[in-house]
Amino acid sequence: MVPGTTERRIDKMIRLLVKNATVVVPGPKIASQIGVTRSAVALWVKTLRNLGVEIKGHVGAGYQLVKIPDILVPSLIQPELGENEIGRAIIHFFRTDSTNTAALVLAQDGAEHGTVVVAEEQTGGRGRLGRTWYSEKSSGIYVSIILRPPFSPTAAPILTLMAGVATQQTLSAITGLSVDIRWPNDLLVNGKKVAGILTEMNAELGRLHAVVLGIGINVNHTEMPGGLKPTATSLRIESQRPWSRVQICIALLKELERYYHLLLEKGSGAIAERWAAASTYATGKRIRIVTAEAECLATTIGLNPSGALRVRYDDSREEALVAGEIAEVK
Ligand code: BTN
Repeated sequence: MVPGTTERRIDKMIRLLVKNATVVVPGPKIASQIGVTRSAVALWVKTLRNLGVEIKGHVGAGYQLVKIPDILVPSLIQPELGENEIGRAIIHFFRTDSTNTAALVLAQDGAEHGTVVVAEEQTGGRGRLGRTWYSEKSSGIYVSIILRPPFSPTAAPILTLMAGVATQQTLSAITGLSVDIRWPNDLLVNGKKVAGILTEMNAELGRLHAVVLGIGINVNHTEMPGGLKPTATSLRIESQRPWSRVQICIALLKELERYYHLLLEKGSGAIAERWAAASTYATGKRIRIVTAEAECLATTIGLNPSGALRVRYDDSREEALVAGEIAEVK
């Protein structure tokens, strides 16, 4: 077992309670089915209650789940994924520093393609360009997916765009909100960031061992912290209602599986096409390009099949951006 991951038996207990959601399950029955003591069951009930899982205790009779919990444990996600490769192994943490860090270590230790690492809370969530990712407990989805694609490291950026399209499709289909993608990987609702993607890899010259796609989605935050308010939002803030993180996570993993197969079968051009159809940033957008050296203005003129963003500067020069950061000029 990976240190700090959720006890398989807690996961089993949640599944048992979910399966018997309308009845009171006696403590001794839970204890014997899972293979732990009755006091361990009482302790885990406490842990789960702390995470917002509503469990009613009936003195002398047992425990009853008040409603299906919205926690991202394997037992609630895996049964919905069928034969998919993505999610065949799911490692869950109630709390970890960063799911990307955990996934990179697991990948280094040989974790299989499609392994998913997910957490209820991150204490050191990481964003692009050395930023931090605000990872409030049980409000967002913090997930990292280990992929072992048959590409060279130079082809890896298309995976970020692939994750962007899969996330955009998932969020717009479930919430009905209009979700935009800012190149390369920011998901926006009403101009504010609702999700982001951090792609990291394990590679040596010319050889890609593993890619970790880290996806953070602000789902049920009722407000964003002060400094983030002008630029970040959540699905709940934008739609005025909470969403099931479990449902979103299942749909996201399914979409990633679908787009990964599209990429393998049809190549990066097919992903670039889908990305361009899903983003208002693909063509005709006035943008500011921020690099370490300078800032300049340009207009977007499409996406290369490799996923590079083509821009035309005001002096008519054209360039394809492979990395960096852009902002809309209003
Ligand atoms: C960004 O937009 O800057 C990327 C944010 C990526 C955040 C996710 S949350 C899950 C995974 N673990 C991390 O530490 N970061 C990514």
